[in-house]
Amino acid sequence: MDLELAGRVAIVTGGSRGIGKAIAQELASEGVDVAICARDRKALDETAKALTKATGRRIVPIVADTTSWKSVQDLAEATLAELGHIDILVNNASTPGGMVRGALAEADDDVLLEDINTKVVGYMRCAKAAVPHMRRGWGRIINIGGLSGRRSGNISGLRNAAIVHLTKTLADQLGPQGITVNLVHPGATRTERTDAETERRAATNAIRRIVDAREIAQVVTFLASTKAANITGVAIDASGGSIPVMFQ
Ligand SMILES: NC(=O)c1ccc[n+]([C@@H]2O[C@H](COP(=O)([O-])OP(=O)(O)OC[C@H]3O[C@@H](n4cnc5c(N)ncnc54)[C@H](OP(=O)(O)O)[C@@H]3O)[C@@H](O)[C@H]2O)c1
Repeated sequence: MDLELAGRVAIVTGGSRGIGKAIAQELASEGVDVAICARDRKALDETAKALTKATGRRIVPIVADTTSWKSVQDLAEATLAELGHIDILVNNASTPGGMVRGALAEADDDVLLEDINTKVVGYMRCAKAAVPHMRRGWGRIINIGGLSGRRSGNISGLRNAAIVHLTKTLADQLGPQGITVNLVHPGATRTERTDAETERRAATNAIRRIVDAREIAQVVTFLASTKAANITGVAIDASGGSIPVMFQ
């Protein structure tokens, strides 16, 4: 199936490593030029160099912090200056698992607000900056969530429930402009940071193995394609199947 992505331009936030890096690589392998952003310049530059070599596409490293509106505006402007337009936004930058993981008595409200600022308001900021440049009656926004959007657990997990709501609300607002907005929930996912114990624990899903970051990237790339024009406002569990949850 031709995903008809050649010549498109994407921004992938948190593209210097992990799932974001895999998404940038997968999009580029389908002919997309990609601006990747993160806060650390060195990792970003190294990833851009490696992905350019691997895919032959333009991978532009842009230092940005998604907790700052000014920084996010600069990211959009720099992408336009380097790559000409914006078709696809992948909101991915955050601290996986969040930072408020303990009991209520130990929960720090400033730390929780920082988590929400990065993942919830950060995703909204990036959409707000990118959408005015999706001018060709076509656009794609894919938000990366996490299964805490569907289960109780760490207090920071509320971020992922909030972005489900953000996804559907933006899908309803932006559909008339040809822009779809969807969300992909990874479960425990193999990235360069994954240790053997995490791999073992992850193998309790339906497919009995950990999902690789590339497999998350493939789902995202399909949603970014013209072939997914009729899918919007949905949240997809790409974790390999949570037992015994239905209606995922
Ligand atoms: N890995 C998993 O098993 C898993 C499971 C469920 C959900 N997820 C979700 O998947 C996404 C990616 O996770 P990951 O495991 O790939 O994370 P990761 O390896 O820690 O990578 C996070 C990326 O985000 C960037 N980042 C963080 N805060 C940022 C900010 N304020 N502004 C700009 N960039 C920022 C980081 O670079 P800098 O630090 O240099 O800024 C890095 O590039 C996250 O939304 C996470 O919650 C992951």
